[in-house]
Amino acid sequence: MGAGFGPIKVADGVYWVGVNDTVTKRFENMWPIPDGISYNAYVLEGSDGYVAVDGVKDIFADEYFSKLSQVVGDLRRIKYVVVNHLEPDHQGTLEELLRRAPEARVLISSVGARMIGDFYDVPRERVLPVSDGDVVNAAGRRLRFVYAPWLHWPETMMTLDLATGVLFTCDAFGSYVALPPGRIFDDEVDLQRFVGEAKRYYVNIVGRYTKNTLDALAKLERVMGEVKVIAPAHGPVYRSNPRLPLELYRQWAEPVVDPEVAVLYISMYGHTARLVQQFRERVESRGASARVIDVAEEHVSYVLSETNNSAAVAVLFPTYDSSIPMPLNDVLYTYQVKMFGRGRPAGVVTDYGWGPVAKAAAEALTKAGFKVLEPLVTLHTRPRPDELARLLELADRLAEAALAAAKK
Ligand code: FEO
Repeated sequence: MGAGFGPIKVADGVYWVGVNDTVTKRFENMWPIPDGISYNAYVLEGSDGYVAVDGVKDIFADEYFSKLSQVVGDLRRIKYVVVNHLEPDHQGTLEELLRRAPEARVLISSVGARMIGDFYDVPRERVLPVSDGDVVNAAGRRLRFVYAPWLHWPETMMTLDLATGVLFTCDAFGSYVALPPGRIFDDEVDLQRFVGEAKRYYVNIVGRYTKNTLDALAKLERVMGEVKVIAPAHGPVYRSNPRLPLELYRQWAEPVVDPEVAVLYISMYGHTARLVQQFRERVESRGASARVIDVAEEHVSYVLSETNNSAAVAVLFPTYDSSIPMPLNDVLYTYQVKMFGRGRPAGVVTDYGWGPVAKAAAEALTKAGFKVLEPLVTLHTRPRPDELARLLELADRLAEAALAAAKK
């Protein structure tokens, strides 16, 4: 089930005791993870016992407790459990851990303390809420807590081990892809692969909360002088370049734009695909790039990641049963859920036999936060010359907008 390697030392008295998940097909049962994912749990050795930092998904409990025991020995020596984030991929083992460590108390944000009973059966007297910035001596290790609301849930926080400078960031800076056996550090893995999947993870999981992400980055800048290692709960541990994940998040969260028009389309019989070709050539002739994506071929998870930094978006599609075809509708709905537009320009092109639905797509894009440009282009399946002229006019406008936005 897991890759089956043992605990790994991260720093003095700090150990990785996580697991690889290569059996789950979709993270949160929505986002494909063909190459798996890791759940990174940690444990700290103090002068007066141990502190567990987060846990793993319940189906990996045996592997997790085996690793934890290899470091701790008798689990009753665990005196504290830091719960940075309540989602079950990290706390599926919490109740069992508290049974095996009967003296352990839970260090959690105040919002988390209010939420924990909605997810787990934890006696109230074992829950110790901490405030933002608090420093707590936990079993002989001094820990500082840094609230990071909405990265990924409202209760989420990070924890800095002051002795070693290891910052446990939970979901933030995490990545899809299981860790190679025995190798958890950024200088031991194919980092480019993880960075690509860290972007998809960010866009899929955390990206809705861009303002919170930027707030958290500003807050982290104030403690980065003390941080030597970034230890997320998914993906590699950044010890050789702990600044890298912050720099990447800034690129992905800020409205940094590539001078490109993302051209999302679906074509049933090739008519729309031919329009896409003309549209693309016109965009490129104006000096912008066109990133063409067939949404029937790419899962929305990847479409989001690929279009996160596009300066503008165009959708081209045929009418289907008086509606937007389902694969494109999935993208537009997900764009809305993720508040993906961030004020970027967008355009709509529909071809049809008897009933265009351009307005519905424009409304969906507007709800997602895009600024939809005129003209809304509707073309017959065999387009008239005046209709094609409007297609090219929209291509011009989006190319200009993309170039202008990228210059800002
Ligand atoms: Fe990795 Fe929001 O859980």
